Amino acid sequence: MGRVYDDERLAGVYQGGNEMPDASLRDWTHLIGSFAGRPSPAVVEIGAGTGMFCASMARRLNPSRVIGIDASVPMLTQAERHNSHAAVQYVAGTAEAVPTGSDLFDLALLSRVIHHLPDRVRVAHELARILRPGGTTVIRTTFRERLDALVYDYWPGLRESDERRFPSRSEVLEDFASAGFTVRTVISFARPVTAGLRDYHARMTSRPQSKFAGLTAAEFQEGLGRLRADAEDESTTRPVPVRERYDVAVLSLA
Ligand SMILES: C[S@@+](CC[C@H](N)C(=O)[O-])C[C@H]1O[C@@H](n2cnc3c(N)ncnc32)[C@H](O)[C@@H]1O
Repeated sequence: MGRVYDDERLAGVYQGGNEMPDASLRDWTHLIGSFAGRPSPAVVEIGAGTGMFCASMARRLNPSRVIGIDASVPMLTQAERHNSHAAVQYVAGTAEAVPTGSDLFDLALLSRVIHHLPDRVRVAHELARILRPGGTTVIRTTFRERLDALVYDYWPGLRESDERRFPSRSEVLEDFASAGFTVRTVISFARPVTAGLRDYHARMTSRPQSKFAGLTAAEFQEGLGRLRADAEDESTTRPVPVRERYDVAVLSLA
């Protein structure tokens, strides 16, 4: 499923369709950074995509280095374009065989990628290899039992396919425990992604997430039409920000 991001079209629309207001990105970055456990951490993001978290962590966490790994070269091309930073290095590679040495990083981020990784035990062992003793993995996802994105209101079929794609909380925690990780905490955190439904509709027109690949053109247009109608009904003077909530699992090595 990760291979869908080799599609130049999806890579090209991903940044515009998934970026968030800078205040939201700031809050997310400080939350993730709070789990680093030491000043100037060495940071790796696996499945870095177009690099929005890599650049934000470089700007805000005073890291010694940030490496962004992704299996998709088109996504990394977009990362260089939108989120290049002197402290960030983008590298092609996979979560299952991370192309770095061992014992290098204090903090690893996996944001919206765990559902693309069927062999989680292997990935967890790779993270245990590349992290230093005491290092931490932060998994930002939506656990299967808590799928609550707004897209499901407009494309209910996506909920069914995501129930097959996304792992549960216990599956993730057990797989990481098998590689030596201990659960520090699991929290829920939400921040606005758009100022209102009009902006949300505008970004959805580009089908900016891999999940839309499972819809026919007619199914996509039907949901988009209902979203457009709701967006047109929304007050222009008092739009309601659209928030996205994620589960955040924080797992550390001894
Ligand atoms: C939904 S995007 C998330 C991008 C970014 N982390 C974010 O939160 O916006 C998922 C990314 O994971 C990458 N990916 C999928 N499978 C992968 C794998 N096995 N190893 C490394 N990256 C992978 C995809 O190429 C894609 O860029």
